[in-house]
Amino acid sequence: MEKVVIKAPASTANLGSGFDAMGIALDLCNTVELEECDRLVIASADGSETPADETNLIYQTVKDVYELCGKKLPGLKITQCSPIPQARGLGSSSACIAAGIAGANQLLGAPLSQQELLDLGCKMEGHPDNVAPAMLGGFVTSVMENGHVYTIRKPVSEELCFCAFVPDFPLLTSKARAALPQAVPHKDAVYNLSRAAFMAAAFCENRPEYFAVAAGDRLHQPYRMGLIPGAEQLFARLPDLGAKVVFISGAGPTIMAITEKSDKAFAGKAAQLLQENEVLGRFKLTKLAARNESMI
Ligand code: HSE
Repeated sequence: MEKVVIKAPASTANLGSGFDAMGIALDLCNTVELEECDRLVIASADGSETPADETNLIYQTVKDVYELCGKKLPGLKITQCSPIPQARGLGSSSACIAAGIAGANQLLGAPLSQQELLDLGCKMEGHPDNVAPAMLGGFVTSVMENGHVYTIRKPVSEELCFCAFVPDFPLLTSKARAALPQAVPHKDAVYNLSRAAFMAAAFCENRPEYFAVAAGDRLHQPYRMGLIPGAEQLFARLPDLGAKVVFISGAGPTIMAITEKSDKAFAGKAAQLLQENEVLGRFKLTKLAARNESMI
């Protein structure tokens, strides 16, 4: 039986102002081996917890792609190595969906185009801001319309460092989305659209000095702060330590700070900050780079 091996990256979405629209792939990857077999076998290669039955997201995704292509999936052997933390706002479910779609397409002999893979991934996830960068790599800004996703991608500068402050508690995206209002004032929508446009331009032109003003947000972060103990303190303190911008990564609860690689002092100062009190002590700093490689 043919075996395929897929690497699917973590991602950080929203970037403050670009709710459900913008994201960046990160160099922290789940590795997934897929092989057709006569039953369902799911193993974790690194001891990370993963559902070992039909509720497994990779299995469901592969099955859906087979059905879409008019093929029956006899059974599947999945071996997962999953270092992306789950329910932390780092795109772990998007990585599973991207791995399942890309892996199924390879097992089937590549019947689907890159655009079809993207459309499928964004439809399954419901919004494109994690799946599109996970699949394409780099910074991606996306629009979904009539079942299609329109994307523009730009490689991210290797001089940028993504400092993920990952807490020891999860936050389900469904809960973080339930905290959002049904409607927002017109002035808040205008506030965000000017900044989201500015953020896309700032990434395309690699102008980190504009990231902070471009990340300003009134659509989701103010409503989610209360769900993430310690977030307000990190937002208040990290810029003084050298962060170019601080935002909630995706739906949270990870808080992301972008710094310049040349700033060697940031990590040490941030580690000291995390020791300051019990609330901040629940966060752990993981330094990541952007991943510019496409997986499809
Ligand atoms: N844009 C999404 C949100 C990311 O903020 O809810 C989580 O998948």
